[in-house]
Amino acid sequence: MCGIVGIIGRRPVAPLIVDALKRLEYRGYDSAGVATLNDGVLDRRRAEGKLGNLEKKLGEDPLEGRIGIGHTRWATHGVPNETNAHPHFAGDVSVVHNGIIENFAELRDELRAQGSEFHSQTDTEVVCHLIQRELENGKSEIEAAHAAISRLQGAFALAIMFRTNDDLLIAARHGPPLAIGHGDGEAYVGSDAIALAPFTNDITYLDDGDWAAIHRDSFEIFDEAGNPVERSRQKSTTTAILVEKGNHRHFMEKEIHEQPEMISHTLSNYLDFSKYEARPLNAAIDFGTIDRLAISACGTAYYAGLIGKYWFERLARLPVDIDVASEFRYREMPLAKNGAALFISQSGETADTLASLRYCRSQGQIIGSIVNARESTIARESDVVFPIFAGPEIGVASTKAFTCQLAVLASLAIRAAAKRGTISPAQEKAFVRELSETARYTRMALKLENRIEEISRELAQVKDVLYLGRDTNYPLAMEGALKLKEISYIHAEGYAAGELKHGPIALIDDSIPVIVIAPHDRIFEKTVSNMQEVAARGGRIILITDEKGAATASMQTMETIIMPDVPELIAPIVYAVPIQLLAYYTAVFMGTDVDQPRNLAKSVTVE
Ligand code: AGP
Repeated sequence: MCGIVGIIGRRPVAPLIVDALKRLEYRGYDSAGVATLNDGVLDRRRAEGKLGNLEKKLGEDPLEGRIGIGHTRWATHGVPNETNAHPHFAGDVSVVHNGIIENFAELRDELRAQGSEFHSQTDTEVVCHLIQRELENGKSEIEAAHAAISRLQGAFALAIMFRTNDDLLIAARHGPPLAIGHGDGEAYVGSDAIALAPFTNDITYLDDGDWAAIHRDSFEIFDEAGNPVERSRQKSTTTAILVEKGNHRHFMEKEIHEQPEMISHTLSNYLDFSKYEARPLNAAIDFGTIDRLAISACGTAYYAGLIGKYWFERLARLPVDIDVASEFRYREMPLAKNGAALFISQSGETADTLASLRYCRSQGQIIGSIVNARESTIARESDVVFPIFAGPEIGVASTKAFTCQLAVLASLAIRAAAKRGTISPAQEKAFVRELSETARYTRMALKLENRIEEISRELAQVKDVLYLGRDTNYPLAMEGALKLKEISYIHAEGYAAGELKHGPIALIDDSIPVIVIAPHDRIFEKTVSNMQEVAARGGRIILITDEKGAATASMQTMETIIMPDVPELIAPIVYAVPIQLLAYYTAVFMGTDVDQPRNLAKSVTVE
């Protein structure tokens, strides 16, 4: 999603803004721009595509000025081209924006009727014109910004600069996050603390509805009604060191390889390996006594939640209601009186997940979140945070965050089961012992990389792929399909293996590879029957199983990937590795932009 940066400095700010924008690249974008104010003149450079294109323009035609705003745009209204790229201008006003102004069409008609001329297809441009109108009506810059912001509906974060004032930036938050950074005689605004890390770790997050007037040496924050409010300053723990790819071709490859270490680190925070027990948890959610658990998340995090549902229900006999957050938030589902709700999000900023959280809060649920970004809005609005310790995830396709989310969910399910007395102390020890082996097995799975690379060469030739799995491997099948779709652009679907004959089997012919995720477990034989159904119709099977599974299945497959023999509990974590590698290498053979696939954003801060 769009990234915002603003700086009021004592040195030329354009290069600083570009550096900060680079730190927001992970969010996904399709154009970028910078505007500065110099000697009473507003000027800007904008470019379609990567930041390199913008840097080239700035190199050829630099921007001077000690105050400026910058933006990476992920298109919502209007195609990604230079005209629609931010910053937008109208008269004395320049604006960058993340989010969607829902009433922009109505405002644009009103402004057009008053003579405003629009140059882009964006919703953002109405904000510039609206503020400019207020200035023309005699309001000061701060009054004009407040008057205009009060008329906007939707979700937005804004940074606003005026031609008439080189010591003022306005920042406003209505939904997507915004942080103010405090420096020595300099001030900053950014979509997150990561963008501001090279300049300062002294951060004030705006609350939802807040807006702020920021000067070099001071700042004032106001609530929606315009009353001054105090917000706490905090020391961000975000590192200023830009995360690098190291020897890897892509961040995604690096992040896949980091999994054993990150999973170990995550588990060590939830499990006591000396006693083989799950560590006691923050008492805000008493997993021993709650009647139901609601889980909500989006995309990969949702699939992690689905796997968590199997664990909570099977081990702890705790019923779980789960839905994707974009449905959950509007379903008005009844929630248990004595219930808790868990929200899973790598970024901690996903708009739909946050809205589901707020729905559950309004329904009196205790709120827990499983997040990677511990300073995120979702973390800050939770009663208890279960961090995943995956480190920064830069690749848009989530990999290590997924397996670390699973590590946390498995640990919580074991702890819940022990507290509810649904497993004995001996069983708890056995499960913790199994979980403690996850990193080792994951490392073994990574050794299959060369073989998976070969198989991916064939996958890169096809148009459609089907993924099948049962039990916890069913959500993993959906995750495999999502991974392949998002980075290789090959159409893929994940199905419960037993559901195949209720429709999707009609698709089977020799052009569609069917990837079957089937460790030799309790229900392996059932999956074998489904594979027979595929094989009988000429389907080409890629079987991911263990030695025992390969021997028992004894059938003709296009390829068989032999995994280590792992305990059933941790299978979806370990089997995630070949699934990720298959998608990764297929995308590499397709020549796509693996880390920043087209149309996708890492942090989805709009509905
Ligand atoms: C995963 O590969 C995706 N890019 C996407 O589905 C992601 O998991 C989803 O948008 C949720 O993001 P979050 O974890 O930051 O909330």
